[in-house]
Amino acid sequence: MSYLMGIDVGTTGTRAVIVRPDGHVVGAATGSHKPMLMERPGWAEQDPEDWWQAAVTATTGALGAAGLIGSDIDAVGLSGQMHGVVLLDKARAVLRPSLIWCDQRSQPQCDWITSQVGSERLIQLVSNPALTGFSAPKLLWIRDNEPATFERAAQFLLPKDFVRFRLTGEFATDVSDASGTLLFDVAHRQWSREILEALRIDEGLLPHAHESPEITGKITREAALLTGLAAGTPVVGGAGDQAASAVGNGIVLPGLTSATLGTSGVIFAYTEVPRLDPLGRIHTFCHAVPGKWHVMGVTQGAGLSLRWFRDFFGGIEAWYARQVDVDPYELLIKEAERMPPGSGGLLFLPYLMGERTPHLDPQARGMWFGLTAGHTRGQMIRSILEGVAFSLRDSIEIFKELEIPIEEIRLSGGGSRNFTWREIQADIYAKEVVTLRTSEGSAFGAALLAGVGAKTYSSVQEAARQAVQVREGMSPRPANVAIYNQLYRVYRNLYPAVKDLSHGLASYGSKPA
Ligand code: XUL
Repeated sequence: MSYLMGIDVGTTGTRAVIVRPDGHVVGAATGSHKPMLMERPGWAEQDPEDWWQAAVTATTGALGAAGLIGSDIDAVGLSGQMHGVVLLDKARAVLRPSLIWCDQRSQPQCDWITSQVGSERLIQLVSNPALTGFSAPKLLWIRDNEPATFERAAQFLLPKDFVRFRLTGEFATDVSDASGTLLFDVAHRQWSREILEALRIDEGLLPHAHESPEITGKITREAALLTGLAAGTPVVGGAGDQAASAVGNGIVLPGLTSATLGTSGVIFAYTEVPRLDPLGRIHTFCHAVPGKWHVMGVTQGAGLSLRWFRDFFGGIEAWYARQVDVDPYELLIKEAERMPPGSGGLLFLPYLMGERTPHLDPQARGMWFGLTAGHTRGQMIRSILEGVAFSLRDSIEIFKELEIPIEEIRLSGGGSRNFTWREIQADIYAKEVVTLRTSEGSAFGAALLAGVGAKTYSSVQEAARQAVQVREGMSPRPANVAIYNQLYRVYRNLYPAVKDLSHGLASYGSKPA
């Protein structure tokens, strides 16, 4: 029997899954990451060494859980949080902690990129506007603020590609993850010389960009000793977490769309050609399917919003969850479940780390709107679940505007495991939502890409056909859709109405007391 492994370098942990070619998951394990370093509001860093340690824990754990040894694995695929900047020096040592995807400090660098290249030319060259989420502005922030560190940089890598380097000794990336750097010519699937020249970035810093199923290297003897994988096992390009998750959800044909609720939240659709939003509100990236593209809208603080509530206000649930050995999130969502849809007219804007789609605004701030003395804690929790779904509905509305077809929405990520959050999504998106047999998302998709590289499957579409199965569908309930449509009209107008005030506030607390 042959097996495939997918490794996803997430934000809170690195997960490895082992998959049979028919899509059955036979073993999985996660290595946790230390909390993000958030030295100032809007800053977010992680230590790449921590990802590597977590990857070792996850791979050995998954092999153990499956009762397999390294030589049972035919190929490995990688996926990971996108956009993070890892810099290595000539001796291949990490130069500083990685500025990760949700770090928002680089607006001045975004403004400089736009003035240097011109906003229209930028979209022509890299299919996207300059956003603080992307890698190039983060790279330039380091050049502007820590020139001595930047001087010593010999190699730039994305998060999963640092783990690839440790596994194989190779510097490589894939086209979907490269698309999120703002240095990649998405339409032509190669690094953009013109952008690199305009921004004065040496192409020698960048890894080679492969199509996602291509083999990029083999497990070294040193990595084999640590991970339990067999030396010589091929490692394919893999994909950014969203494209990988889309493969795992079977979003490899026109009309298919997914909603992924992880730390961030993403609405994702497959496209045959690059589809551009003239306002740049959604991203246009290469797909992990060779020669195809995708669009996606991103909300920065999806699962992150609920985690924030758990960490700062969920002490009682956390305590009780330890006593009865359940997940504190389950207890929090149970409180929300008892509340009727609409949370008594309470709206939550989940902009705790600024917002991408649709506002493209790192200075956006979160808020509760509509609080009265009658509101309860359960309604506050429910409004978080609803607010995250409203923020993703903003992306769905943009897809509709651009006439990108949405037949059904496949749910994945931690948020899809909960029945109530699934129901809320169906009602707020006003679309049939579907869950799949496996909710392993990105790591599962990365394993399927490994299978294409190892020739277990003839194509990414064939991998999805053999391994991805729909479990159940859930239809929106008309009465709830009516309530949510009404509230969505208020939600949609809320941030534009407070945007200037929000910007005024953003200058407070740029450094904690
Ligand atoms: C995608 C994005 C997030 C991160 C973390 O553009 O920023 O999905 O990859 O999950």
